[in-house]
Amino acid sequence: MEHLLIKGSNPLNGEVVISGAKNAVVAIIPAAILANDICIIDNLPRIEDVKCLEDSLTKLGAHCQLIDDRTLTIDSSTIKSYNATFDSVRKIRASYYLMGALLARFKRAEVALPGGCNFGTRPIDLHLKGFRALGAEIIEDYDAGIISLKADRLKGTNIFLDTVSVGATINIMLAATMAEGVTTIENAAKEPHIVDTANFLNMLGAKIKGAGTDVIRITGVEKLHGNEYMIIPDQIEAGTYMIATAACGGHVSVRNIIPKHMDSLSAKLREMGCTIEEGDDYIDVISDGRLSAIRVKTMAYPGFPTDLQPQMAAGLAKADGISILTETVWENRFQYIDQLKKFGCDINVDGRIATIRGVPQLNGAEVIATDLRAGAAMVIAGLAAAGTTKIGNIRFIDRGYEQIEYKLKALGADIKRVKN
Ligand code: UD1
Repeated sequence: MEHLLIKGSNPLNGEVVISGAKNAVVAIIPAAILANDICIIDNLPRIEDVKCLEDSLTKLGAHCQLIDDRTLTIDSSTIKSYNATFDSVRKIRASYYLMGALLARFKRAEVALPGGCNFGTRPIDLHLKGFRALGAEIIEDYDAGIISLKADRLKGTNIFLDTVSVGATINIMLAATMAEGVTTIENAAKEPHIVDTANFLNMLGAKIKGAGTDVIRITGVEKLHGNEYMIIPDQIEAGTYMIATAACGGHVSVRNIIPKHMDSLSAKLREMGCTIEEGDDYIDVISDGRLSAIRVKTMAYPGFPTDLQPQMAAGLAKADGISILTETVWENRFQYIDQLKKFGCDINVDGRIATIRGVPQLNGAEVIATDLRAGAAMVIAGLAAAGTTKIGNIRFIDRGYEQIEYKLKALGADIKRVKN
């Protein structure tokens, strides 16, 4: 058991280099199963979710090898099994991509139900609806916690997603890549990691058009081949450092990013009173720590990401005035607010709306990370608070942030990891 200890109130200054995107790499590692060959993945973030997927692919029979800190080779030609019901699969949400990937490669898959952060019910009905439309028979055994999929052949078709879903869009794309004929996904999600996964598959020989728009057209191919691919930078990690700088004050250059992916956050930080300067692959955030209250509503991309909502709540806790934060994606993503209140935040939650009355000062507290991004919110509150903060349950934070304490320390934060 480890925790983070923060002595708050330091401004943040300097440069932080952003790692590869968690939500892209967790789709691209399973997608490598389709290659039946060697894939080399660069700009790999060293986070727990990646280790979990490496472990899952290895258990399926793949040869996964780290060439260096940032580069992973996956030889998926040695995979002979379509049974992914081991523990590492149950630990993370993104293991649902093993369904689409194994179904595409073997026309069969047995996959344990995914775990991950809990923000209310997280159904996968749209994923399954898509697989069925492509011709798969599915047995959902919720007692055993296993989904079994089987198809004689997968045949391209038109699929309209009732709800915009990142996971369903990518999973159906995976299954359709080697289906017969053309598959069209309408009302598709448009997140950067969907484009990244489509680009990866296209480099392996897939024929996917329209990723990044709400209609994706996939012409099935018989087989794919290996290739080398560089993961895009992490939009949410970048956003977390941008909000931290806004809240603490200072001048931080957030490097190795795609500034366009940050548009919805940059607009909000400007409204809060920060100066945002964009370059080709960086954004500078300049803040005097005195912020104005704003309204924020989470939406699918290019809207404000739900995965930055908790960090934004922490960032707005000291802003001057009353902020309104509306969560439209997840039904129950405010469980962390009770933890934030321990810093002295004045926040009232009513259903999907949080009303945040800015307070002049936050005080250090003993809190826990209730999930990954909630953990990041605790870090931001701790950095902006006076006194000492102790954050427990940091295994959640390690699932998605690479070396968070080193990156923050380099910016001037007083933060350390302590073993209990
Ligand atoms: C992904 C991200 C997660 C992010 C979320 C929304 C990964 C690994 N995780 O999660 O960090 O918070 O996008 O940006 O990329 N829904 C259904 N039926 C389904 C699937 C989803 O009703 O079959 C609903 C969900 O309940 C939710 C909404 O659709 O209300 C969006 O969920 P979705 O985009 O699928 O989220 P994930 O892919 O699980």
